[in-house]
Amino acid sequence: MLIKKLSTICKLNTIKNKQKLGITKLLKLNKSLFCKDNTSKERVKFNFKNIKENTTVEVEGEVGQTLVDVAHKFKQDIEAACDQSLACSTCHVILDQETFKKLGEACEEEEDLLDLAFGLTSTSRLGCQIKISKLLEGKTVTIPSGTRNLYVDGHKPEPH
Ligand code: FES
Repeated sequence: MLIKKLSTICKLNTIKNKQKLGITKLLKLNKSLFCKDNTSKERVKFNFKNIKENTTVEVEGEVGQTLVDVAHKFKQDIEAACDQSLACSTCHVILDQETFKKLGEACEEEEDLLDLAFGLTSTSRLGCQIKISKLLEGKTVTIPSGTRNLYVDGHKPEPH
């Protein structure tokens, strides 16, 4: 049975000389082709509260995504003008006190950019610097009523 599977794998991968592959490589190949991916990401549900729109929307993100990734997926109004490259403050979000403390300190570059953010609070962070984790489960992330975008013509970039 295993030999038959391996032969199939070899055919699929147009491997002409099976002897050249070690058994370890063949088994890895076998695993990657026939085993299901059990590494699916953990999902976290939380809310975005939009002050300007006066709405609260429940969203779901995958562990490891950024707040901006999830916001854009759910069409939430976070600009992220620098495309999450830590060069603007348009992804400014406000966290609750508990979440803010548990997330730990922002890096120096983030702190500098936060100083430019519109409506800065003591629990402000940049959404592109916050990775989704179980810490956010059931929490509410507030989107401020405005941003300070340095584009003079008010250009608002589309998320990619
Ligand atoms: S998207 Fe520009 S700093 Fe976060």
